Amino acid sequence: MSVGPKKMEFSRGELFDFHGVAMVEQFTKNWEKVQDFQARPDDILIATYPKAGTTWVSLILDLLHFGQTAPERQTSIPIHLRVPFLESTLLSKDGGLNVGTDVAENLTTSPRLIKTHCPVQFVPKSFWEQNCKIVYMARNAKDSMVSFFHFERMTMTQPDPGDWNSYFHRFMEGKIVVFGSWYDHVNNWWKKTQTYSELHYMFYEDMIEDTGREIDKLCSFLGLTPSAKEKKQIMYGVQFDNMKKNDMTNYSTVITMDLNISPFMRKGKVGDWKNHFTVAQNEEFVEDYKKKMKDHTLQFRTEI
Ligand code: A3P
Repeated sequence: MSVGPKKMEFSRGELFDFHGVAMVEQFTKNWEKVQDFQARPDDILIATYPKAGTTWVSLILDLLHFGQTAPERQTSIPIHLRVPFLESTLLSKDGGLNVGTDVAENLTTSPRLIKTHCPVQFVPKSFWEQNCKIVYMARNAKDSMVSFFHFERMTMTQPDPGDWNSYFHRFMEGKIVVFGSWYDHVNNWWKKTQTYSELHYMFYEDMIEDTGREIDKLCSFLGLTPSAKEKKQIMYGVQFDNMKKNDMTNYSTVITMDLNISPFMRKGKVGDWKNHFTVAQNEEFVEDYKKKMKDHTLQFRTEI
């Protein structure tokens, strides 16, 4: 059975070095406009390394801000248009170009919720100048790697991930995966928490463990006080199974993704790496991880 709209032929992006970070043209084509993007003080930036649960946090923030005042958004506007992907340029259903900066500039909501996968050094300077709130979600490297591998298999504009073993090595190497090294990304954003107070650093594993607790922390960071009823509605809407069924959050409207190869809402678990890593790969990974992750104040859980 096929899922979603008719798929078109796409050429998979070619990776190249972009200021020291591996990128594909989809994310650099509009670079000048991305760098010149004018953030507003109440903009909220959602930043992640790919596959850390960006869509999950995006939906939570959208529901927290607009779930009561504009509930129709939930059933009429796909999440990637409610929370535009700043540096992305994507073909839309009608063959037109969907440019992240344009979608963000055309948002009529306040606050504007904006998503980025940029390493911290690439974030447009206006977000810092305007002292915008930033939510960074991180996920452990092993599950991020597995999730990214399946995502690249089904996303026709991303480089072909090749076989699992070669992908495993490329991910650890960090030079030939889109948005660069997971290790640099999570570490450099973590360092930023020391100098930028409007940054809330959260973990996918904590969200899986206790979504309600993490939403409470988010609310206190954002200065929001949802009612108990509202929180219950949000908790329900953002459950994995409900997001998977929901065409506004499961990416079935995005023609560059072939959900028959692998669904966007794939497993949503901590520890799926165990179904992919061989014993030898795990040993190699752990050795390499120790060398790369020297800051022991940043700790990830690979199982809960
Ligand atoms: P898996 O591929 O491991 O299933 P992103 O939005 O950053 O691209 O992240 C996608 C990953 O987050 C996918 O991981 C997806 O299943 C997971 N995810 C999305 N919504 C989730 C939810 N409500 N609960 C748990 N995991 C979720």
